[in-house]
Amino acid sequence: NTKAIILVGGDLRGTRFRPLSLNTPKVLFPIAGKPLLSHIIEPISKIQSIKDVLIIGFYENSVFKNFLCECREQFPNLNIKYLREYKALGTAGGLFHFRDEIKRNNPEKIFVIHGDIICSFPFKEILEFFTKQQDYYDDSEAKAVVFGIDVPKYLASHPHTFGAIVADKNNKVIHYVEKPESKLSNIINGGIYLFNSKYIINKIAEVKHSKDELVDDVTNVDPIDSDVVSLENDILAKLPDDGGFYVFKSGSYWRQIKRAASALPANDLVLANTKTDNSSQKCEIIEPVFIHPTAKIAASAKIGPNVSIGPYCVIDEGVRVKNSILLENVEINEDSLVLYSIISSDTKIGKWVRIEGTEIKANDPVTYFEVHEIKFSKATILSSNTFINDNVYVKNCVVLPNKEIKVDTKLEIIM
Ligand code: GTP
Repeated sequence: NTKAIILVGGDLRGTRFRPLSLNTPKVLFPIAGKPLLSHIIEPISKIQSIKDVLIIGFYENSVFKNFLCECREQFPNLNIKYLREYKALGTAGGLFHFRDEIKRNNPEKIFVIHGDIICSFPFKEILEFFTKQQDYYDDSEAKAVVFGIDVPKYLASHPHTFGAIVADKNNKVIHYVEKPESKLSNIINGGIYLFNSKYIINKIAEVKHSKDELVDDVTNVDPIDSDVVSLENDILAKLPDDGGFYVFKSGSYWRQIKRAASALPANDLVLANTKTDNSSQKCEIIEPVFIHPTAKIAASAKIGPNVSIGPYCVIDEGVRVKNSILLENVEINEDSLVLYSIISSDTKIGKWVRIEGTEIKANDPVTYFEVHEIKFSKATILSSNTFINDNVYVKNCVVLPNKEIKVDTKLEIIM
């Protein structure tokens, strides 16, 4: 059997996703109407050999309580648990810390999945690929498979922002370099791994042990915390020497969600790759669009493309919404326009308002790899409980919770 482990980080890590992570962790942010985590768990639930899903992070337990209850109803065949790290242990430290829980029921293999990615999640194909690989040097089964994204050449010109995978013609990984200084490969780490469970836990133990030996070394300038282990920095580079490390290459859609504005291109991609039925809506719709069944939309409103509308939203006559995400209970009054924006829960937008961000092109390296520190968010982001008065124009702004905007505002962070 196989176990799935999803790494979700914690409060400290979610900072780039602010202000959207102020109330909810990034992994519970709805993309195309479903929390990011559900997009991962749903395809896992279709794999017969997976019964256990462990979500590992350092958020308080209460953060996932409701989500876990919903999961139990939605995925009765899965046993889903949240395991809380006592501090940020890095992407491999938690795997070691919770090794007894991971080893329970003797899973032969474990999936380790970054909780902040969106893609087609080809778990079945990765499992089949793992089984098919024979290491041609020592004739043994694969020990590790990394999900590699074949990126367009011009995007690979930002090598320092991702893990580079160099493989031979048999997909055997020869080198793994996390955030290299110069370009090594067009195949980048897509944030999904399938490991032989005994092998990877022993490997992390080995690395931790060698870190332990350095802890008391007084010649070290930087203090070493041997509990903190990074899969990308401490482990993956060591795997090619052992053999049995392969890359499963995919050209399918993939996006990581680091900054708040990245939720928009992720939403576009998921909407483009899922079927939605809007036949009961009276308003004009330009697909793809997701509308929650409890949302009320006036007949003369025009919605889409690339729009997700959450529960209990109310959209009045003549409203236009395009390339945007509306969370729960958002009210938009007559003839207002929302473009390239994320509107958080309980926000009220008056009449004749214009809320606008800038178009984020599908393969814009800024969002693809989150390369630059963007001073001003490309998307306009309104946090929860914002009030926008009638006739106001808001362009490329980030507005923190509980604010009222009374005058036209451009390129500002309203705190
Ligand atoms: P970069 O380092 O710039 O790539 O950004 P990042 O810190 O967001 O990426 P990283 O590769 O560290 O994280 C990948 C996934 O692991 C994300 O889903 C994180 O939330 C999660 N993660 C990162 N650090 C930790 C940690 O200490 N513990 C746990 N449980 N998850 C973590």
